[in-house]
Amino acid sequence: MSKVSLIIPTYNERDNITPLVERIHKALSGNDYRILFVDDNSKDGTAEIAGSLSNKYPVDVLVRKDKRGLASAIVDGLERVDADIVAVIDADLQHPPELLSSLLEALDNGADIAIASRYVPGGGCEGWNHIRRIMSKGAILIAHLLLPSTRSVKDPMSGYFMFRKRGVTDAKLNPLGYKILLEILLLGNFDKVAEVPYIFRTRTKGESKLNTRQQVEYLKHVYSLMRRTGELWRFVKFCMVGGSGVGVDEGMLYLLAGIGGLRPVELASALSAETAIISNFTLNDIFTFRDRRSPGVKAKLNRFWKFNLICLAGVGIKVGVLSLLYNFAGMHYLLANLVGIAVATLWNYLLNTWVTWR
Ligand code: GDD
Ligand code: MN
Repeated sequence: MSKVSLIIPTYNERDNITPLVERIHKALSGNDYRILFVDDNSKDGTAEIAGSLSNKYPVDVLVRKDKRGLASAIVDGLERVDADIVAVIDADLQHPPELLSSLLEALDNGADIAIASRYVPGGGCEGWNHIRRIMSKGAILIAHLLLPSTRSVKDPMSGYFMFRKRGVTDAKLNPLGYKILLEILLLGNFDKVAEVPYIFRTRTKGESKLNTRQQVEYLKHVYSLMRRTGELWRFVKFCMVGGSGVGVDEGMLYLLAGIGGLRPVELASALSAETAIISNFTLNDIFTFRDRRSPGVKAKLNRFWKFNLICLAGVGIKVGVLSLLYNFAGMHYLLANLVGIAVATLWNYLLNTWVTWR
C-alpha cells in the first residue's frame, strides 16, 4: 500500500471543498493518503471549511497571506508533504477525483509520473467552444515547438497528475502562472511518463480564475523555461552557426568566382551556398544539437538531407517575405531582406528541431 500526498490549490472554492474531499476519500479508500490545501487567503471561507473537515478526514490547510498564484502554491505545498507519491488536482471538481485510482495504478505499473490527459484517446473537454479548444491546442503547440522535450506528452498543460516525489528532489522549481506540470516535467527527472485519459468537466460551483493575465504569464513562463533548460542557448548557437554560414558563403564565392574565375556567377553562388549549408550542418550537428543526434552514419546522412531541404525551403521563404514587403508594403529591399532572414531563421530552427534533430 502506497502513501499519497495530495496537493490542492484553492482560491475561492467554498462550495467545492466538501464534495471534493468526500469523493477523494472514496476514490482512495484503502490507501494511506493526506490532503494539503494550499489556499491563497480566499475571501469566501474556503480555508475555514477545509480546516473543519480535518476532524473527519486527513486534511491539512496551508494559508498563504499574499496571493501568489496556482503553480507557486503547488511548489509551496511540495515542501510540506512527506509521502513518496504526490498528486496535484484542482479543487473545483473539473478534475474527477475518481481518476486518482487509475493514476495510482499507472505508477504501480512502472510510470514515474502519470498525467491525467485530455488529448489521448478517451480524453476530452466537456462543453468547450471552438475558441477554448483552439487556445488550449495553441498553448500546447507553443510548448511542443519551443520546449522539444515536452513533445512526447500530449497534454503538458494538464493540472492533474501524480508522480514519484524523488523525481523533483533536485529540481529548482520556480514557476510562473498556472502551468505547474510544465515546470515539473522539464526540470524534474522522470524516466517513464504515462498519460491516462479523462474528461475535463464543466465547472458547476464558483468561477474560473483563468484570464488574460495568466495567458501572458504562460508565455513568460515558456520563455523562462527555455532559458533554464538551455533551449534559448541552443537557439543562440543556431543563429551563431547561421552567421558563420554567411562568412563561408562569401569566402567560397570569392574563391570560386573571384580567384577561380568560375562563370556564370549564379553557378558559383549556388555552389558557395551549398558549401555554407554543409558547413552549417556540420557545426549544428556537433555544437547546437549534440545531445539530440541518433548515432550512425546512416542517421547522419538522413539528417543532412532533411537539413538541406528545410534550408532550401528557407531560401524560398526569405525571398517570398522580401517580395511581399518590397512590392506591397514599399519597404526598402535591404530591410525587407533582413525581415526575410529573420523569418527564415525561425523557420529553419523550428523545422530542424522538429524534423532533423528530433
Ligand atoms: N492557491 C491558489 N492560488 N489557487 C488558485 C489560484 C491562486 O492564485 N488560482 C486558481 N487556483 C486554484 C483554483 O481554486 C482551482 O482549484 C485550481 O487552481 C484551478 O483554477 P481554475 O481557475 O479553475 O483553472 P482552470 O479550470 O481554468 O484550469 C485548470 O485546469 C486545466 C486543465 O487541467 C488549471 O489546472 C490548468 O492548469 C489546467 O490546464
Ligand atoms: Mn477549473
